[in-house]
Amino acid sequence: MNLIIVSNRLPVNISIKNDKVILQESIGGLVTGLKSLRIEKYTWIGWPGISIEATKNKINEIKEKLVENNYVPVFLTKREVMNYYYGYCNRTLWPLFHYFPQYTIFKKNFWKYYKKVNEKFLNVLEEFLDENNFIWIHDYHLMLLPKMIRKKYNDASIGFFLHIPFPSYEIFRQIPERKELLEGILGSDLIGFHTYDYVIHFLNSVRRILGYEHEFGHIYLEDRVIKVDSFPMGIDFERFESVHNDIKIKREINRLKKRLGRKKIILSIDRLDYTKGIVQKIKAYEIFLRENPKFKEKILLLLVVAPSRTKIKEYKNLKREIDRLVGEINGKYGTMNWIPIHYIYKSLSINTITSLYKLSDIALITPLRDGMNLISKEYIASRHKNDGVLILSEMAGSSKELTEALIVNPNNEEEIAAAIRIAAEMNKTEQKNRMKIMRERIKRYDIKVWFKDFMEKFNEIKKLQKKLSTRFLTKEIKKKIIEEYKKCSSRLFLLDYDGTLIPFKENPNECYPDMELLEILGKLSNDERNDVVIISGRNRKNMEEFFKDLEIYLVAEHGALIRDKYGTWVEIEHLTTEWKREIREVLEIFVNKTPGSFVEEKEYSLAWHYRKVDPELAATRVYELKHILLNLIMNLNLEILEGNKVIEIKNSGINKGRAAMFFLSKKDYDFILAMGDDVTDEDMFKLLPKDSYTIKIGYEISSAKYNLYSYKDARNLLKKLIIGE
Ligand code: G6P
Repeated sequence: MNLIIVSNRLPVNISIKNDKVILQESIGGLVTGLKSLRIEKYTWIGWPGISIEATKNKINEIKEKLVENNYVPVFLTKREVMNYYYGYCNRTLWPLFHYFPQYTIFKKNFWKYYKKVNEKFLNVLEEFLDENNFIWIHDYHLMLLPKMIRKKYNDASIGFFLHIPFPSYEIFRQIPERKELLEGILGSDLIGFHTYDYVIHFLNSVRRILGYEHEFGHIYLEDRVIKVDSFPMGIDFERFESVHNDIKIKREINRLKKRLGRKKIILSIDRLDYTKGIVQKIKAYEIFLRENPKFKEKILLLLVVAPSRTKIKEYKNLKREIDRLVGEINGKYGTMNWIPIHYIYKSLSINTITSLYKLSDIALITPLRDGMNLISKEYIASRHKNDGVLILSEMAGSSKELTEALIVNPNNEEEIAAAIRIAAEMNKTEQKNRMKIMRERIKRYDIKVWFKDFMEKFNEIKKLQKKLSTRFLTKEIKKKIIEEYKKCSSRLFLLDYDGTLIPFKENPNECYPDMELLEILGKLSNDERNDVVIISGRNRKNMEEFFKDLEIYLVAEHGALIRDKYGTWVEIEHLTTEWKREIREVLEIFVNKTPGSFVEEKEYSLAWHYRKVDPELAATRVYELKHILLNLIMNLNLEILEGNKVIEIKNSGINKGRAAMFFLSKKDYDFILAMGDDVTDEDMFKLLPKDSYTIKIGYEISSAKYNLYSYKDARNLLKKLIIGE
């Protein structure tokens, strides 16, 4: 499979100086990470960092230069750059996903351009939409793209990876376009995040906003299953480890050492961004200087800040604040022989950065939020002698793996100051103990393993999709069913109602059959050769009301009650009801403490419905309720049935399987078709003769032989039988 990487930015930035096209390496976690993969064959699609207007008619030249490196540019106009990149990406999504709602701007125009640019990417991608390509989309700039691709080309292989945090539902829900964003990402086959927390936040938002449940990271959509998992991005460990043999770097280290003198060096490297906690870190360093005068002239902070997103107000303000603070502290604490903070506002080359890792005694990395933070990992990898100390924010994704670092809360300046002192005084043995464990860990899960892991999980999900799709009713099987139907003269239809013939509604009492359904059932039952049974968990009153004008059989309460075509009801066996009072009391307590839930009393059972309950709360309550009920019913002849968002207590031995058998014992059928969507339908699928057509509505694997996607497909199949084609 060919790899097509798609990200907002290409690994190189184009600029035009003195009429010349200049290529410069891009900065940031994504590009650094992916480039270090050193994949041999790939195509990379992205924005070259310059607006069309600024290319000054050099588009063709730029294209040529990029194509040499397998880079395919997506050119953006000035207006698109302003509204999509500086707008929706970096003034809406970026601040909000990093828990800065105070900087977040919601603007319709931003969103309009976000959609437009995602479409632009789709247009460039179009020629790559073929079954041999694996399209790997990166980061928050392109969240709509997976769905756009899927719509155009259903069989596409799409991976998506988010390089920033995915925030908690409480934050994410604020976005006006939250639904579209989630649906956009769900167009992928595999969705990756840096940490398990982000996975949980994402799954939670999907469940609460779109209503899709998940099972071990699998989300069952209407027509596909997809996977969500965490893949903590690694680095090119070998490169950073082995680089001490590199003569150029050796020279650079010596040069820097001479310049900086024999002092303890604290290194801080960040892109200029308010998420990185640079101001807090400088203030913490000042506290350290104030409280530890013994380190006067013996320590220095090497503050490297790479310029970024300079057109945004918050970034400009931050730059000013950093400049001011550095000046103030250097003025206040500095001496003729000592500058406490060496401040560099520049993008440094990878060689210089590596040299800095090598010569720094301490790395101070304290973002307020960071998806991963590869700098912390690079520092660790560069310490081939196992010395050095890492101070790391607990809000960086990498803190989940680098647990032997000195972990700090980046908002607690005193805590950071204390950590600097501990780091500056830490003996070599302890440094080694900590460093060794961290180095081993990130060596094991380096960038290559990360990539391999992602690709393996991608292949797994594709296999599962394939396996599931073979169970779906194909045209051929449908044809066979129709042929068989035509030939047979004694046919039985066992049809579940909710979720099979009609979609679920929040209020189960609103699920009246519509005209189309009544017509289908009417026509089907008009044929004398057909016995049509609606087999449901609903009560008899409900069912009579729904189907009063039809000559069909009804099975209510999962098989407790059966009505013949002409309106006479019978109990399947003698059933008890005296247990209901005690159980009802328990259920009512649960209703009181679970907003949105209610009890439905049926003739022979009690049901606790929780469709409208907050899913997190529902999960806890279901667990509690089941536990209590199991104890209560221990010596009674009752059982608990778990349906779709409902828990039901009923006489044991009553189920749809038994009800189905009731019909089979009365007559010899030569054609049986059963359809259902719920766990309660499984009893029926299991007991029916092997040559019956059993069909599960929905995506999951079941005891039924076949699957159909939705109630619409179920109706279509019945329609086809009626008209016989
Ligand atoms: C973060 C984002 C990347 C982005 C990088 C640099 O690491 O996750 O997608 O490329 O910052 O930001 P910029 O806005 O300059 O591309």
